[in-house]
Amino acid sequence: MVNVTDAARAILARNDRGGYTVPTDGLYPFQWNWDSAFVSMGFATFDIDRAYQELERFIQGQWNNGMFPHIIFHVPSDSYFPGPDVWQTEQCHSKKPMTSGITQPPVFGIALRFLYEAVLVTGRHDMLERTHTLFNAALRSHRWWLKARDPDKRGLVAILHPWESGSDNSPAWDEALARVPTTTKTEICRQDTKHVNATMRPRNIDYQRFTHLVEVYRECQWDPIKQWSHAPFKIADVQMTAILARATADLIWMASQLNLSDALEELFTMHQLLINGLNSRWNQHIRGFVSLDLISGKDIEKPTQTCFIPLIALELDSYQRKSIQEEIERWCQGMVIGIPTTAPFSPDFESKRYWRGPVWAVINWLIADGLRKNQLKELAAIIEGNTISVIERAGFCEYFDPITGEGLGGNTFSWTAAAYLVLRRRLTGD
Ligand code: GLC
Repeated sequence: MVNVTDAARAILARNDRGGYTVPTDGLYPFQWNWDSAFVSMGFATFDIDRAYQELERFIQGQWNNGMFPHIIFHVPSDSYFPGPDVWQTEQCHSKKPMTSGITQPPVFGIALRFLYEAVLVTGRHDMLERTHTLFNAALRSHRWWLKARDPDKRGLVAILHPWESGSDNSPAWDEALARVPTTTKTEICRQDTKHVNATMRPRNIDYQRFTHLVEVYRECQWDPIKQWSHAPFKIADVQMTAILARATADLIWMASQLNLSDALEELFTMHQLLINGLNSRWNQHIRGFVSLDLISGKDIEKPTQTCFIPLIALELDSYQRKSIQEEIERWCQGMVIGIPTTAPFSPDFESKRYWRGPVWAVINWLIADGLRKNQLKELAAIIEGNTISVIERAGFCEYFDPITGEGLGGNTFSWTAAAYLVLRRRLTGD
């Protein structure tokens, strides 16, 4: 029998492009922001140098203003739309590589702590300088987040494009996205549907709106202040805020390990602001946390995985804990594999279409971490165990149909391999 751990490592090796990893061959031929952070944690289970390298290659794309872009185009490829010619971000960073103009969830800080913990276990002393460099890059990016994406100091950071959320076509964005015009100046040459069945992907009309938004921000010359005032799509997102808050807590841990007292104070202030913001988003009816549409002023009461992600940052009270536990169990009832990214009882649920129902290993990883943090260890272990089993049955697919357990989207996915390595180690110790 093939050893699945070896197979997971082989996926990472296969998607390695010389120090950075592509999410999968063909469909996503560059380095992606949060994919890379997850992947670095996968590498850290067996090769700490390579894990550091993943983050080091990633920060080469950091912007002068501190933003970590969502894609780093290290080498040209024509198998992805929109490429660097559409983004036109050259003025935002002094050196190559080319990048996209938006960001993605800041898992980087969480990964950095994970890597540094692995370093401490090995007792290696030669990683300190590398760790400092990565820490400084992370701190600059957190400052960018608060300044550019929470100028009103609500303690909630906003996304200006659905791609930033990492959950591109989630029903959570439907209403806000419907207000975005479908007109584009750019010719849309979708490449994704050449690799994957179109019924599993976002629709053409979604792509028109996605591209329209890119054009609006390009016309703002990627200036955060102009973007903030011109954005036709602006959502204070609880998933993003929770990941940032957790990453900030992890940077606090790092700063105390590295004896950086100035940074510590700044990070404490940031953390408290984000925790207060998140706590204000509890919604009794949804039994989870809800994002806020900053343009309509309305709460987004769609039951998607975002509602549970704040567990990774918050200490819930016992009522919230019980509600979330029951809600996750309800979503998973009758499913071959949970947690669906949209509740199966929702009219928006589609079991095979991208972020509208399918299960993603990295989302399960985050939610399981949040459950552990909130003393819901049994449920966490069930989710971790099921994630491992579905990967063993269906392979390292991009995502899984919760009703059938079938593997969907791209094959040989790096972050699915990373999730396998980390969750398996957590459960079995190997
Ligand atoms: C899709 C996903 C996004 C991911 C990227 C690369 O765009 O929605 O979350 O980062 O693919 O895997």
